[in-house]
Amino acid sequence: MSLSEELLALFGKDVSHDAQGINARMHFFGSVPADESAPADSQPVDNPTVPAKVVALVSINGGVGRSTLATALGSGLQRHGESVVVLDLDPQNALHHHFGVNSALPGIGRTSLEHGQWRDLQQVGFAGCQVITFGDIDIQQQENLERWLKHEPGWLAQRLSSLGLNERQTLIIDTPAGNNVYFHQALSVADVVLLVVHPDAACLATLDHLDPLLAPHLEGERPPVVHVVVNQVDESDAFSLDMVDAFKRRLGRAPLEVHRDMAINEALAFAADPLDNVAKHLASDDINEICRVLKASKNTV
Ligand SMILES: Nc1ncnc2c1ncn2[C@@H]1O[C@H](COP(=O)(O)OP(=O)(O)O)[C@@H](O)[C@H]1O
Ligand SMILES: [Mg+2]
Repeated sequence: MSLSEELLALFGKDVSHDAQGINARMHFFGSVPADESAPADSQPVDNPTVPAKVVALVSINGGVGRSTLATALGSGLQRHGESVVVLDLDPQNALHHHFGVNSALPGIGRTSLEHGQWRDLQQVGFAGCQVITFGDIDIQQQENLERWLKHEPGWLAQRLSSLGLNERQTLIIDTPAGNNVYFHQALSVADVVLLVVHPDAACLATLDHLDPLLAPHLEGERPPVVHVVVNQVDESDAFSLDMVDAFKRRLGRAPLEVHRDMAINEALAFAADPLDNVAKHLASDDINEICRVLKASKNTV
C-alpha cells in the first residue's frame, strides 16, 4: 500500500462519515481552531449583490499561507489586467505587513464600529492593486464587532455593496484560520473559495472538518466554486509529493499547487512584491496558473 493510500485509510472518505471516527481523529490531532461563538446554523440569506468577482482565501490551519497568497494573487491578477481589491478580514491585521502599506491609517475594524465608509480606506498595493486593511482594534472592540457579525449574516455584503465595486473588478478576501464569523461572512459573498492547505497529514485530516462548515454556503442558488490550494510543496521531498497525491485521491481531482520558495518568505520580510522576487522561480508559474483559473471563473452572485 502506498503512503497516500495508507493516509487515506486513516483519514479517507470511507471512515469520514463515522462520527466516532471523526472524533477520534480530532482527538488525535488536538484542538482544531473552532470559535464556539461561530454561528451554529449559518443559513444562506438574501444579501445585497456584490457585482465584483469575490475570491475568499480560507483554511482551518493557521500559518498555511492565506495572506501570502492573497498578496501574490492580488499582484498577479492586477498584472494579468484585472482591477483588484484585496481586503483583510482578519483581526490579526497582518496583511499590511505583506503589502507594506501604512498601518497607522484606520482599517475596516474601527471604521465599521464608528459607522464610517470603507471606500475611504483603500491604499495602493503592488502592481496598482488596492488594499483595505483590518486595522488595529482592542479586545473589547473585537468582541463587539464579532457579536455584530454573528447576528447580521449580511454584514459584509452590505459593506461591500457600499464600496461601489463593479463586475470587472476582483475582490480577494483574506480570512482568519478556523470556524469563525469572518469565515462565514466571507463565504456568504464568495464566488470562488481557495482552501489553503500544507502538504501534511494535519491539513488532510481537516478536510473532513471543513465539509460541514462549507455545506450551508454550497446550498444556495449560486454556490461558490471551491479549489484546494496545496501551498509550500517541496519537489525535492518525497513525503511532500506523496501528500499532494493523498489530497488528489481524497478530492477526486488534482489540487492547485504552489511550491515552497524562500523568495516568497523574503518578500514578506522586506514587504516586497512576492511576484518580483519569484520572477524566475517555480512559484511564479504556480501563481500565474491560479490567476488563470480565477480569471476563467464566473461571477456567481
Ligand atoms: N509558497 C511559499 N514558499 C515559502 N514560504 C511561504 C510560502 N507561502 C507562505 N510562506 C511563508 O509562510 C509563512 C506564513 O504565511 P502567511 O501567509 O502569513 O500564513 P497565514 O496567512 O495562512 O497565517 C510566512 O512566513 C510566509 O512567508
Ligand atoms: Mg494571515
